[in-house]
Amino acid sequence: MTSRIAIFASGSGSNAENIITTLRENPAFEFPVILSNKADAFVHLRAQTMGIQSVTFTRDDFANGEAIIDYLKHQRIDYIVLAGFLLKIPENIIKSFPEKIINIHPALLPNFGGKGMYGNKVHEAVKNAGVTETGITIHYVTEHYDEGNIIFQAQCPVATTDSPTDIANKVHALEYKFYPAIIQKIWG
Ligand code: GAR
Repeated sequence: MTSRIAIFASGSGSNAENIITTLRENPAFEFPVILSNKADAFVHLRAQTMGIQSVTFTRDDFANGEAIIDYLKHQRIDYIVLAGFLLKIPENIIKSFPEKIINIHPALLPNFGGKGMYGNKVHEAVKNAGVTETGITIHYVTEHYDEGNIIFQAQCPVATTDSPTDIANKVHALEYKFYPAIIQKIWG
């Protein structure tokens, strides 16, 4: 059976692109659509280049959930992958897709997570904390930010000389290597 996956992304979308280009030739997967809350997000251009449909819903649509659920059901979506998606997923969407929504967080949860912790803010916090390692966490999504069961973590070292951008580059490399592999493992 084919797993039809919707990707939710708010920004650049490099993970969305990496997941789709890595897995789209695999007959176990289809990627019918990318959903975003930002009409001007770079992810739309990436989608266009890949020939993937992308749509924008408002922040209110995402908060209310009903229009999103209807759309996802209409598209016969089985699973949702959050890839740099910055809004909270409401309870009704989670109930409609139980244990079928995953997120990647660019640090080792439970550290450096929670509301407002995304993208470079996470890497700046890691730098300021002076920790010697960071990494990625792939986890199931609940209605609380960054709190669902952890599926996978991978680590990378942080040098004292690393800038937040250096840290981001190391973390992105882990994301690109492992996010498609974990999707393949759990839903392939
Ligand atoms: C990724 O590093 C992802 O882990 C992070 O946003 C970045 C999006 O990059 N997500 C979060 O911080 C969620 N709390 P991308 O748009 O290039 O994939």
